[in-house]
Amino acid sequence: MAHRYDIICIGTALVDSIIKGFDPSPISASGFRAVSGSLNVGGEAVNESMAAAKLGMRTGILCSLGRDSAGDMVLDALSKAGVDTSLILRSVEHATPVTTMFVNDDGTRKSITNSAHRYNFHPERYASLFTDAKAVILGSLFRAPFDDPEIVLSVLRSAKKAGSLTVADTKLPNFNFLSLADLKEALPLIDCITPNEDEARYYTGRTDPDEMAEVFLSCGIRNVIVKLGSKGCLFRNPTTRVLLPAHRIDAVDATGAGDNFVAGFTSELLCGSRPEDAVRFANACGAICTTAVGAATALRSREQVLSFLEAASQDP
Ligand SMILES: Nc1ncnc2c1ncn2[C@@H]1O[C@H](COP(=O)(O)OP(=O)(O)OP(=O)(O)O)[C@@H](O)[C@H]1O
Ligand SMILES: [Mg+2]
Repeated sequence: MAHRYDIICIGTALVDSIIKGFDPSPISASGFRAVSGSLNVGGEAVNESMAAAKLGMRTGILCSLGRDSAGDMVLDALSKAGVDTSLILRSVEHATPVTTMFVNDDGTRKSITNSAHRYNFHPERYASLFTDAKAVILGSLFRAPFDDPEIVLSVLRSAKKAGSLTVADTKLPNFNFLSLADLKEALPLIDCITPNEDEARYYTGRTDPDEMAEVFLSCGIRNVIVKLGSKGCLFRNPTTRVLLPAHRIDAVDATGAGDNFVAGFTSELLCGSRPEDAVRFANACGAICTTAVGAATALRSREQVLSFLEAASQDP
């Protein structure tokens, strides 16, 4: 069957207001200084879809944006990256979420979200679209709109009924605090889950990545990848284990590394790779992402990733 999309990414789309080098000592009664302030598009579904499009996938994004300038900014960035934006819902009642982020000199950060992140977005109403996609990526399980067990179940059921591959990234909760038990019916419908180490620890209560992966597998999820940041990643399914060290590169900014990783993994599976090979490609996508500031800057194409892997294989 001909599919309109290779990948549909579903989740939040937002604008990050990034304040770098915030100085907490006031310069007047209510004035403060920082080194810089800038606006950047973000949200897992945005980062993932832009990366997938650059890797040559026909990519759509299902998200909601307000009819405001922040929404226009996200739409513009997606279009320029080659993402199909025709599924995006523009809401008059709800503003596009804007996250304020304070980034310290050492790269640590604090972010402030608001209730706009939880507005009335019901992806399950668009279930018929999933028959049009070879793969569906849930931007982040445990974050809106996937912090509602009924929405998670309904989207995954529709995707599996349509024969789509289902990949779920995760995040720590912000408004609604779900556990794995709250999603027990939905989890067996996930082909691959991709938590980072903190998230895997939080949801499984384990500290060892293999044990974390085993908890997810015991929930019926077919493949698990624990992303380990500068330590690489661990891939597990019931028969295969691959532990990959991170590529040695000069990391500048790890924002969105996980989202580039997930897009790379999914797109490579769709190119016919086995999961244990797709994870090598993904490990390179994550590393490449960290070499420039911003989630959508460094990764440019599948050829770039293949050359990066080729060069890495010759590096003793
Ligand atoms: N410093 C680094 N050097 C090389 N590769 C890295 C580095 N940081 C991250 N990566 C690669 O990117 C992948 C994803 O990174 P990370 O574990 O930070 O994901 P994440 O926390 O989900 O990211 P985000 O949510 O910010 O997109 C890692 O598994 C690894 O492959
Ligand atoms: Mg992540």
